[in-house]
Amino acid sequence: MEFIRDYADWFYLIGAVLFILTLRGLSGPKTAIAGNRYGMIAMAIAVLTTFFVADHPVIWMIVGAMILGAIVGIARARTVPMTQMPETVALMHSLVGLAAVLIAIAAIIHNNKLVELGPELLATNGVSFHEMSKVHLFELFVGCFVGAITFTASVFAYGKLAAKKWAKTISGGWVKPVQALIFIAMLGFGIHFFLSGSMTSFWAMTALALAFGWVWIAPVGGGDMPVVVSLLNSFSGWAAAGIGFTLENNMLIVAGSLVGSSGAILSYIMCKAMNRSIINVLFGGAMGGAAAPTAGAGEQVQRNYRSGSADDAGFLMSNADSVVIVPGYGMAQGRAQNAVKELANLLKEQGVTVRFAIHPVAGRMPGHMNVLLAEADVPYEDILEMDEINSDFPATDVVLVIGANDVVNPAAKDDPNSPIYGMPILEAHKARTIMVIKRSMATGYAGLDNDLFYNDKTMMVFGDAKKVVEDMTKAINGTGH
Ligand code: TAP
Repeated sequence: MEFIRDYADWFYLIGAVLFILTLRGLSGPKTAIAGNRYGMIAMAIAVLTTFFVADHPVIWMIVGAMILGAIVGIARARTVPMTQMPETVALMHSLVGLAAVLIAIAAIIHNNKLVELGPELLATNGVSFHEMSKVHLFELFVGCFVGAITFTASVFAYGKLAAKKWAKTISGGWVKPVQALIFIAMLGFGIHFFLSGSMTSFWAMTALALAFGWVWIAPVGGGDMPVVVSLLNSFSGWAAAGIGFTLENNMLIVAGSLVGSSGAILSYIMCKAMNRSIINVLFGGAMGGAAAPTAGAGEQVQRNYRSGSADDAGFLMSNADSVVIVPGYGMAQGRAQNAVKELANLLKEQGVTVRFAIHPVAGRMPGHMNVLLAEADVPYEDILEMDEINSDFPATDVVLVIGANDVVNPAAKDDPNSPIYGMPILEAHKARTIMVIKRSMATGYAGLDNDLFYNDKTMMVFGDAKKVVEDMTKAINGTGH
């Protein structure tokens, strides 16, 4: 154990390098598994080293908390359906925020206690204690309020993604002034705490930061939620880094900063993909006001559209030269990825060129479609990002849209009045034939009607994604009749 204490900085350095390699690995599907392994090793090194360098650790409490956390974590990891991953991620961010707040509170109470007992400890043990330095107060102030905002904002994001009734989008002229008032009051109390060390100000700042997290995220529209989730990811990292300063733990500072900056980069990429600015997302009100709470909850539209059967669609695809599959949230919802892969393989066997087109915000979390297709062992070289595939649509015989809606909505390009105007889309409408699998004419996440479904070149194939895709495969195999 002495050995670990003596070389703690070296262990932390190895952990930090492994965390950097983790991020590098996670940036591509082929290296993602290795990246995950680096992350696990780094985390094990970080936890064990911290355990051994801690002064007088209360072993039963730490081990007890770790066992309890592991039980909850393993149970959740084994049972969470892929469709609930986004809200699970949001919930995990909230825990990081809560941890930051609790650590800040513990650090302050602990220090106050030591100061109170100061003269006694000096007399009995010859150890003296001082008031916290200004730098420490500043770290606590920032770590605590960032953590508190992250906590309530992430809980709200969780509620919104899980379509909970209590996570209602708020709107109205009063929202911005209230946001500003709470923010200014929060900063005011925080600065007073920093200058005077007043505990009353500390509690007031924490309570206001918790309230601010809620009123700040509650007006953000559904279409902008992806950016919010990745931004909260970034916040949880900065909160952890702030607490790393408080605990004087270099590993936590490094790991927190890596999470913070990678989350910020992801937010930037998402904003670019949706043609939004972060300021606009967070303070400019919702995309089109209120969000549609869940896919499939939209209204029925009375316009003419063409529909066909899985057999018709199978016939068309097997006679095509090129097919591009556009997966969306419905593929995740219907757990259709394995069936989709079988269909793609069958078409390929028949000489059809099959590729997958992925929109950066398809589904409900960054990389949602990539994860599902990787799970189904779809070859990475068949999966193309929006920028890589968009110019190929005009020369594509068939586009098969599987449970995607907003990410192929031409209104984003053609209709300046549409709330999603300006968001880059997969230009499926330019293909020769478009086939759309969904259960009804209901809207997608942004709650908007989609002209693509009424296009002359479009055939709707109604039904659950998995069932329809399986029927298409049977039809192509000639066994479906
Ligand atoms: P959506 O626009 O949400 O459309 C999904 C469609 O799938 C729905 O219209 C629904 O229509 C259909 N569907 C649902 N379950 C189905 C099933 N079992 N079988 C067949 N179809 C089914 O999805 P998208 O095109 O992937 O766009 C994503 C949206 O979510 C964007 O607005 C994006 O901003 C937002 N969002 C994204 C993220 C991230 S990070 N990716 C996070 C939060 C929000 P029916 O009900 O008629 O079947």
